[in-house]
Amino acid sequence: MSNSNNFKRSFQIDIVFVLQVIISVALILFCVSSALVSSKTISRVLALNSDPAQGKRIAASCVHCHNNNTGDNIRLTTLTGLSKKSIVIDLVEFRDGKRSNRVMADVALALSDEDIAAVAGYLATAQTD
Ligand code: HEC
Repeated sequence: MSNSNNFKRSFQIDIVFVLQVIISVALILFCVSSALVSSKTISRVLALNSDPAQGKRIAASCVHCHNNNTGDNIRLTTLTGLSKKSIVIDLVEFRDGKRSNRVMADVALALSDEDIAAVAGYLATAQTD
């Protein structure tokens, strides 16, 4: 094999390696940026005031599926008593698709940032429903 063929082959290997590095870096940047988008939204929603009346109205729609200590719902997580922060994180992540569940994605996509702040604030302070 001639020197020029060797050179050509090692050049091709270099190109493949460089492409692999570029693709890996792009994937890592994509994952980090989508995580940052959710965490930015979470901080923004946590900084909003929770309107208790709006929160109570929205929470009434959650009990169709979540057991809020009434005992007559199918037994998903009881929402009352969870912290505001954990409810905000879950709803934003369902809405962003970071946490995937088709049912909760539909629920969360219908909620604005203000709605999420309101319902999370209400559920965190409500005793039973
Ligand atoms: C149509 C049924 C349905 C409705 C309505 C619904 N949820 Fe859910 N929810 C689910 C299901 C199913 C899960 C479980 C998803 C999973 O395990 O990933 C869930 C999970 C959650 C979780 C995560 C709980 C955990 O233990 O990780 C939170 C928080 C939540 N829902 C909040 C709400 C709020 C707030 C509302 C009202 C605005 C609501 N849900 C309305 C079906 C529903």
